[in-house]
Amino acid sequence: MAQLWGGRFTKETDQLVYRFNASISFDQKFYRQDIEGSMAHVKMLAKQGILTEEERDRILKGLQGILEDVESGKLKITDEYEDIHSFVEANLIGRIGDVGKKLHTGRSRNDQVALDMRLYTRQEVRETDELLKNLLQVLLRIMEENKETIMPGFTHLQKAQPITLAHHMGAYFEMFKRDRLRLHDIYERMNYCPLGAGALAGTTYPLDREYTAELLDFYGPMANSMDAVSDRDYLIEYLSAMSIVMMHLSRFCEEIILWNSNEYQFVEIDDAYSTGSSIMPQKKNPDIAELVRGKTGRVYGALTALLTTMKGIPLAYNKDMQEDKELPFDAMDTTKGCIALFTGMLDTITFRKDRMRDSARHGFTNATDAADYLVKRGVPFRDAHGIVGRLVLYCIDRSKALDDLTLEEYRAVSPVFEEDIYDAISLETCVDKRLTAGAPGKEAMEKEIEACRAYLKEDCPDRCPRK
Ligand code: ARG
Repeated sequence: MAQLWGGRFTKETDQLVYRFNASISFDQKFYRQDIEGSMAHVKMLAKQGILTEEERDRILKGLQGILEDVESGKLKITDEYEDIHSFVEANLIGRIGDVGKKLHTGRSRNDQVALDMRLYTRQEVRETDELLKNLLQVLLRIMEENKETIMPGFTHLQKAQPITLAHHMGAYFEMFKRDRLRLHDIYERMNYCPLGAGALAGTTYPLDREYTAELLDFYGPMANSMDAVSDRDYLIEYLSAMSIVMMHLSRFCEEIILWNSNEYQFVEIDDAYSTGSSIMPQKKNPDIAELVRGKTGRVYGALTALLTTMKGIPLAYNKDMQEDKELPFDAMDTTKGCIALFTGMLDTITFRKDRMRDSARHGFTNATDAADYLVKRGVPFRDAHGIVGRLVLYCIDRSKALDDLTLEEYRAVSPVFEEDIYDAISLETCVDKRLTAGAPGKEAMEKEIEACRAYLKEDCPDRCPRK
């Protein structure tokens, strides 16, 4: 047991207590950030004359050696240390002797851990953003290729009106684009440095907090030292943004699972992204989509857990805050993994255009257009609605689509129908006439796709995190 705080104590810590308290099993995840933060701190101490240049260089060299050895696997992080901070400091002293004991001058583990977690999370935000960008690129490709792929659009999971696959994918494009914008917002708010806050009240050393903030690529230091050590808002915001990403992925997965079912057969998931059954030889299961849908729950869980942990904590640092790591780490790994897998699955999926079209044709998705046809010829909409309703009933009894009826059959219900009804209710017409902005009609869709393309082309769309 290697501890940083033995001086005040007369008895050894109980083994169970020690293990309950320790965080090394999970905070080793940010060993790199811990070392980088220490390097910045040491450079600042020397700049301020608190350490000599020689002391600075020896400490920096020691820290660099630890980083390299951990990275190469030569140095193992073991649980004989309480946390990653103790591990690094003990190793440093082991390597360079007493001068290593000066590293922690003017610093507390409270501002140190606040810094490490913020640096780690900032990197995660960037990586998640990049993964979402890849997903948007796949969505854009599918949109470009399917401006004329007609399918039924649903409300209440009942066929409603014909749309195109491009239009359907475009809806998800908007969702994941908003997810990125949320990440950019969070980044802008979180990118301030807690280092130099000390335990809670700053220090009596003349620290230059602007300088460390700059070295670590922050916009500046956090304004209030008590807030700096006890703020976890940025993590809660990020967990909430990840929860929304997962909610979007989960809805998409639900659709893919439905579309992949024997009943729909709108898509075929690539073999590489499907799994079989140990007993039923005919099965090809959408396990990846189901798992992504399923894992959404644990990301929500991490958000709820941290919100609950934080709600009763008085200022400033309290040990409860150590709980800000395990579940958020899991949520970050889960969300990134799900976005990457989902992107691969979507990129390789086959869309059964024939099945989609057939489904649109046989679901009376053109019934609204048949009613609109009558309205254009002077029939009040409510009457037109009734007339087409009767026609639909007539079709259902005979297992027909509206397009299959003869003109005589139409005219038996309303004499207003003419030969041009067929053209008016063809699926192509139904889609192409929908030209309001954001609708599936080809011209409207082309504009939408152009906007998506422009968004992805910009290197730094909207308020992209300054790097
Ligand atoms: N492992 C601790 C955490 O994650 C580090 C900070 C400890 N600070 C303290 N005063 N005990 O929060």
